[in-house]
Amino acid sequence: MPLTVETPQVALRSESTTLAVGNRVLESRYVLSPLAGYTHLAFRTALREVGGLGLATTDLVLPAMLLGGAKKSLDLVATTPADRPLSVQLSSGNVDDLIAAARWLEDRGYGGVDLNMGCPMGKITGGGGGAKLLCRQDDTCRLVEQVVQAVRIPVTVKMRLGWDRTSITSPDLARAFEERGVAAITIHGRTRAQGFHGAVDLEGIRETVAAVRSIPVFGNGDVRTVDEALQMRRVTGCAGVAIGRGAMLDPWIFRKLREVAAGRAPTDPTADEMIEFLIRHFTLMTAQHDDFSCRMFRKFAAWYGARLGIPEDLEDRLRRFESFAEFDEIVQQIRRRHGERQSTVPTALVRVPNGPVEKW
Ligand SMILES: Cc1cc2nc3c(=O)[nH]c(=O)nc-3n(C[C@H](O)[C@H](O)[C@H](O)COP(=O)(O)O)c2cc1C
Repeated sequence: MPLTVETPQVALRSESTTLAVGNRVLESRYVLSPLAGYTHLAFRTALREVGGLGLATTDLVLPAMLLGGAKKSLDLVATTPADRPLSVQLSSGNVDDLIAAARWLEDRGYGGVDLNMGCPMGKITGGGGGAKLLCRQDDTCRLVEQVVQAVRIPVTVKMRLGWDRTSITSPDLARAFEERGVAAITIHGRTRAQGFHGAVDLEGIRETVAAVRSIPVFGNGDVRTVDEALQMRRVTGCAGVAIGRGAMLDPWIFRKLREVAAGRAPTDPTADEMIEFLIRHFTLMTAQHDDFSCRMFRKFAAWYGARLGIPEDLEDRLRRFESFAEFDEIVQQIRRRHGERQSTVPTALVRVPNGPVEKW
């Protein structure tokens, strides 16, 4: 079903904007869906400063690596007091590892654990984790129950509709997870076999929403605009919406949704605000990753280039810059020259794997 709608603001305006996930009250029903390699601390913090973000979740973290003290995993769970509320997403098919990692997080003050049951990649499903958990329903329910019982912080689940079209397990699993104490569910409206292809199945999301009694379900998949977020809610009845790639395309989407919830028209950022966001994003990155930030930031060039109407030569420099001094110099030029090229809503999507999903 296409995600377009003509009169979005009307139906949902009178509801409460807050939402409870276990013991946490979210200030907004719109949350960030994790995108490994993109939604790290710097981007989350910059988004939160813009406003309207209800909850963020880290990229998927492998419990064995986290517990082994791997730098990459410790970087992924790095956070600050401003980066709240935050859940850490764990991905494994091994219950002992999941419990140990969930306790590790609870002991260090993290506010929530999210269990990944959506990752389609072979290196994750091969070990029984990610979307593979959708296939072994009884075992998965036991695993979830044990993790929930091991910690006091809320445990949530992010999953797909099922492994493939012939095995749509998300409604039964969602119901069973609620009975076992899961605090919320995020449902990406695709099967594992679909990867990131094909249309998001809003009816499938609706059936998952209908299967639970009272915990919030976040609809997820292909929401890129305010209208599409409201459409997702209206068609599926979901309590909230998780937005991943749409937050890369429009970091102001959460603020706009907050404005709409307050009965106001959504406002676009000014060019100055966009430039400040770019600088802030990079500066926050340098606080965690120092010089390596130059390399990390390059993959965001296409989005900033399109949105700010940065001339091609400057966008190209943003894709190759090597030092903080060079970044400062590029920014000075952006301040002078943005808008030379027609500014557009970026369309470049976060890259997803190519080829048949069985080979991912
Ligand atoms: C590059 C990339 C990385 C992702 N990493 C994660 C992840 O670490 N954990 C997770 O649960 N989902 C991950 N996802 C899935 C997204 O959270 C989301 O479910 C999916 O992209 C559909 O939502 P969207 O259209 O709003 O992006 C990833 C998706 C992409 C494209």
